[in-house]
Amino acid sequence: MASSKIPFVHFYSTHGIIPTRQDISDLDRHVERRCALYRHLGLSPGVFRGASVLEFGPGSGHNAVVTGLLGPDRYLLVDGNPPSLQSTKKVLEQYCSGLNFKLRRSSILAFRSREKFDVVLCEAVIPTQKNPPAFLRHVASFVRPGGVVVFTCMDPISLLPEMLRRWLAWKWVEDVSDFNDKVARLVEFFRPDLAALPGMSRRPEDWVIDQILHPWVGPLFSIPQALTALGSRGAVLGCSPRFLLDWRWYKSIVGSQSADNSFAIDSYYELGLNLMDFRVRLPQTRPSVVRRAVEISQAIYDGVFARERGQAGFSRRQMLSHLLSLQKLLRDHSPKTARSLHSLVLYLQSDMRRESDLAEFRKWWGRGQQYVSCIMR
Ligand SMILES: C[S@@+](CC[C@H](N)C(=O)[O-])C[C@H]1O[C@@H](n2cnc3c(N)ncnc32)[C@H](O)[C@@H]1O
Repeated sequence: MASSKIPFVHFYSTHGIIPTRQDISDLDRHVERRCALYRHLGLSPGVFRGASVLEFGPGSGHNAVVTGLLGPDRYLLVDGNPPSLQSTKKVLEQYCSGLNFKLRRSSILAFRSREKFDVVLCEAVIPTQKNPPAFLRHVASFVRPGGVVVFTCMDPISLLPEMLRRWLAWKWVEDVSDFNDKVARLVEFFRPDLAALPGMSRRPEDWVIDQILHPWVGPLFSIPQALTALGSRGAVLGCSPRFLLDWRWYKSIVGSQSADNSFAIDSYYELGLNLMDFRVRLPQTRPSVVRRAVEISQAIYDGVFARERGQAGFSRRQMLSHLLSLQKLLRDHSPKTARSLHSLVLYLQSDMRRESDLAEFRKWWGRGQQYVSCIMR
């Protein structure tokens, strides 16, 4: 399998890494966290017992341990990165004795099987692939009718604080050539930020490698984009965080209504500002507010990557102009987020680059990755 052009796999294989390791020494806590996620997705632990499960991109396998402990009859895991497969094998053997699992080294897009599965999992894989909609349709094609696909989305608003950190990081390691030295310097720089994130089970160096240094290839993938890609083939079952509201009377969900996910897309545009800041619980806003926030955040995302790819520069002045527009938009709707933005604005406006100006910014994280489950027809 040539890994040269495969997103994620090329970067991970080049460095011989899998930066998704988690501390699961407190296994009960890890199981509780994962079962909470599955509950949000409408999947009781019993769904996995005796089921056939296919997982794309298990990474280090730490999450697969919990799926394995829930007792599937058959568990196939597909990944293109040898260190991922080695780590997954190790942890499944260590924690899930007697589990019937198989590992397959393959590009996910090249994976073929006539077998259909009860549950297909694809976590932290689809956004930034070259063509996320086609990738999702491929992944979902292995679900048996009535089975469930679980996937993740990341979009410019949920990821904005991380993209802004990425932009800051660029300057901090511009003069460092050794990869490990870059990681060490950035772990140090972002230590206060990471300390402000409760429940973080990922290693700081893995976050730096994956979110700051990983040269992402393709575009992000929002919930509306994902549901549009699946069309009437998938019906939304759940999401985490749970904010997709369906007020329809169940008796009206028949015929074409049963294939209609527009309630979820509407919820996204009414409640989406909540994705920008994990500290807030905001009421519904006009959809135009979320659309505008997406537009500005997308421009920032494009600018950050244009600079990384050596394309037309994205100057501090341009960045400030986007940040100020966003700050104005959020002032009334999400004041806490606007204050954090202001903290970054102060830092960038001053030539002194006073780290103390960043204090409020460092507390700000988005609801970076959202999980969605869909029942496939
Ligand atoms: C970011 S990690 C996610 C790991 C795990 N699912 C998690 O959420 O912690 C992505 C994993 O998917 C694999 N992967 C991503 N894109 C792939 C592709 N196109 N073909 C094969 N494997 C891929 C990577 O090698 C890596 O192990």
